[in-house]
Amino acid sequence: MLRVNPNYLKLRGSYLFSNIAKKVNEYSANHPDAQIIRLGIGDVTQPLTPTVIKALHDATDEMADKNTFRGYAPDLGYDFLRNTIVEHEYKSRGCEIAADEIFISDGAKSDSGNIQEIFSSECKIAVTDPVYPVYVDSNVMAGRAGEFVEQKEQWSNIIYMPCTEENGFTPAFPEEVPDIIYICSPNNPTGTALKKDALQKWVDYANEHKAVILFDAAYEAYISEDDVPHSIYECEGARSCAIEMRSFSKNAGFTGVRLGYTVVPKDIKDVDGNQVHPMWARRHGTKFNGAPYIQQRAGEAVYSAEGQKEIRGLVNYYMENAKIIREGLKDAGYTVYGGVNAPYIWLKTPDNMTSWQFFDHLLETVNIVGTPGSGFGPSGEGFFRLTAFGSHENTKAAIERIKHI
Ligand code: MLT
Repeated sequence: MLRVNPNYLKLRGSYLFSNIAKKVNEYSANHPDAQIIRLGIGDVTQPLTPTVIKALHDATDEMADKNTFRGYAPDLGYDFLRNTIVEHEYKSRGCEIAADEIFISDGAKSDSGNIQEIFSSECKIAVTDPVYPVYVDSNVMAGRAGEFVEQKEQWSNIIYMPCTEENGFTPAFPEEVPDIIYICSPNNPTGTALKKDALQKWVDYANEHKAVILFDAAYEAYISEDDVPHSIYECEGARSCAIEMRSFSKNAGFTGVRLGYTVVPKDIKDVDGNQVHPMWARRHGTKFNGAPYIQQRAGEAVYSAEGQKEIRGLVNYYMENAKIIREGLKDAGYTVYGGVNAPYIWLKTPDNMTSWQFFDHLLETVNIVGTPGSGFGPSGEGFFRLTAFGSHENTKAAIERIKHI
């Protein structure tokens, strides 16, 4: 008799951004004249850069020629891309990472959802609160979350590490020691980032307690301050306790192209001495047929001199929006965080509105879509996230509209 995975029955409603899209589509259908500005989901708006487009075209032409056509990609990634990543992201920062420790994938979202599969279902996870919902939902699916406790808006078996105004959005070590610690820096959703000394303390903590840190560095290209590390491997000892996830979506605009990678150092071992690296390789080989050649050539092009110049231009473009949002909201009397090392602005809702009340208020009064903070966890209640990934025109118009509410 067929039975579905009971863990899936525990999931709460639809995925946060699907839920928002549904609400906005309904509103739009009922108000066809509304000029809606979407600053909700962190999706890019600027086109791919010329160097990336050329690489995509060239690789496509190769596919049309019987001498250069390629079928399945190597499941762990082409060496040309893995070697380029090592040179540009790790060697250049003094991090000791080998090419065969880089696993190319179709993006950091899938990797951050899938990576928990290689750990025991007994492992206890810790997440920051607020948190990128994929970390929690994927552990609910895996049966690691326990039961949902309505009063607390939390899962009984997950350790939540509040990131609040009081602690400067830097998580403190939890009372109960976790086995798996999710850290995202620069952070989605708060837009804040951990300084090197704070991240080093987490690396030391993980090594001391034989835990693993799943480090999501999808937004590293937005770091503007010198004391914020771009990779966790800039911290001493991270090779034995940290797995890092990276994306081409936010820096190079690949949200619709799909390309990312995860770094699994060979030094990471479980309590019985089992190496984690071959497990992730085994998982990839079994469930993934490799990211497409065409996309991987485009990823390689991002690291060419011209490609780097162009993506710096993209990042600057979005960070200009971040500044417009931050300064504009401050002028209008809002309390705002983030937007300095990340393309997200985290603002306090006015007049004690809940996050969802403010969502409805903005949508209905000025036709602006953002993301309610409570969608990211209980400590997000009373906050709201705006993304800097819009166009300049829309971003400026949105802030003007908010100023005049
Ligand atoms: C977000 O808005 O939080 C992002 O779209 C997350 C993601 O990249 O999946």
